[in-house]
Amino acid sequence: MIITTASFKGGVAKTTTAIHLAAYLQTKGQTLLIDGDNNRSATRWAERSLERGGLPFKVVGVNQSAKYSKGCEHFVIDTEASAEEEELREIIDGCDLLILPTTPDTMSLDALIQTVELLRALGIDKYRVLLTRVPPPPRREGEEAREFLTEAGFPLFKGKIREAVAFQKAANEGVLVHQVSDRRARNAWNEYSAIGKEVFGE
Ligand SMILES: Nc1ncnc2c1ncn2[C@@H]1O[C@H](COP(=O)(O)OP(=O)(O)OP(=O)(O)O)[C@@H](O)[C@H]1O
Ligand SMILES: [Mg+2]
Repeated sequence: MIITTASFKGGVAKTTTAIHLAAYLQTKGQTLLIDGDNNRSATRWAERSLERGGLPFKVVGVNQSAKYSKGCEHFVIDTEASAEEEELREIIDGCDLLILPTTPDTMSLDALIQTVELLRALGIDKYRVLLTRVPPPPRREGEEAREFLTEAGFPLFKGKIREAVAFQKAANEGVLVHQVSDRRARNAWNEYSAIGKEVFGE
């Protein structure tokens, strides 16, 4: 399985999603996370993890990927935000499933709509939208975004990822979210693990 996270807009949780889905996939088979972002966020996350015993999967750059892919069953590719059609075509060709994380705010949703319009124009259907950083009740942005996207016929994951500071702590500490000392950490991990199950149709 090759999963890629992508978006036209930055900061929608591509890297956070790539790291946690790689952790889920690793429970199924040897997994490699390929860091396709020049900012190297996933690589830095893995470097910070070394003090705490490391991540359960290897993170490598695109230029190292041929060497380290040997023996791996699953791949997660983290990309940098880009609205270039040429780049999107390449990204789509290179994966089995494209995950489009989006936060439930107007700017992210506008960028998502543009991405999906392009995918539709290219006749691509192997993509799914993931709502991330969904604010807690009584705020309704998450539900409103879901209603809007469902009506527009966008393929959405049933699960969603709620806003939780545990994710920022995890990135800072170079660990997975369930290793963070925070009362919402376990739930935050369960949300990504539910997305992993959806990917495998479990
Ligand atoms: N569910 C969440 N709750 C709270 N904060 C989150 C959540 N998911 C991600 N974040 C935080 O949001 C910020 C952006 O996340 P991340 O780096 O994963 O996004 P990105 O799409 O990879 O960004 P970029 O386009 O810069 O690569 C980070 O500070 C991250 O810790
Ligand atoms: Mg990123």
